[in-house]
Amino acid sequence: MQTNRFFPPFLCLISSLLLKSSPANYERREVLRKTWAKERLHNGVWIRRIFISGTSGGGFEKERLNKLLEVEQHEHNDVLQWDFSDTFYNLTLKQILFLEWMERNCPNARFLLNGDDDVFANTGNMVDYLQSLKDNDGSKHLFTGHLIQNVGPIRSSGSKYFIPVQVQESDSYPPYCGGGGFLLSGYSASVIHSMSKSINLLPIDDVYMGMCLPKAGLGPVSHMGFKTAGLHIPSNKVDQYDPCYYKDFLLVHRFLPATIYFMWHKIHDPNLKCADNRL
Ligand SMILES: *[C@@H]1O[C@H](CO)[C@@H](O)[C@H](O)[C@H]1NC(C)=O
Repeated sequence: MQTNRFFPPFLCLISSLLLKSSPANYERREVLRKTWAKERLHNGVWIRRIFISGTSGGGFEKERLNKLLEVEQHEHNDVLQWDFSDTFYNLTLKQILFLEWMERNCPNARFLLNGDDDVFANTGNMVDYLQSLKDNDGSKHLFTGHLIQNVGPIRSSGSKYFIPVQVQESDSYPPYCGGGGFLLSGYSASVIHSMSKSINLLPIDDVYMGMCLPKAGLGPVSHMGFKTAGLHIPSNKVDQYDPCYYKDFLLVHRFLPATIYFMWHKIHDPNLKCADNRL
């Protein structure tokens, strides 16, 4: 169960991106490799990318998708895969397996962007934000993103997020950050990993991360630059994908690959002219 099929020779770098990606999402990975998840040096900080995946499909399809990841890994050295079924309810498992892997293989990573492969992340802005913090070596607690609080398990069995009382009795969740993407320090990743050993897995990964924090006396904080529920642009008279709306955010969910590619180029266009305070 816990053996990685591919084990890249690993370089522990300052800041890393962890992207949850199912085997079939090849187009999304390709676009991220060319845009915001490009491995590079930004303001003296190395950005490293890792896609984490399980398996999907069965029979020939499963074999083909595994082979696809193997080819991608050979070319890019950025894929980690475990032998479990990559489904929505197994996302927490994927998350914890990664934290365990990271603890062993990359104890020096300072910060981690934990995100989905369908978000638009302004990784340059993230590095700038992290560098602006007083304690920016990753040895202090940091867990920030789109904060969700005062919510609890959905009890209607038709919902994607259905949690029966047998799985969780309490009617409330601790505060957590929306799973489209959040930032955490290496320290906090390690705390969550150790707390997870004594907290039953809840199949909703972002909530589960939030559950691991209070046990260590920690919690998440809100960052206004994370919009995991999308941007609310009230007027339909303006272009909803005007790059000026997006250039100052840290992360927005959710984007199609083509729009990610377009937006990444547009916000880095030296000729882009934006009036101040568009939103
Ligand atoms: C999670 O993965 C395991 C191992 O592949 C599989 O047996 C199980 O059905 C998966 N769970 C869900 C809810 O998909």
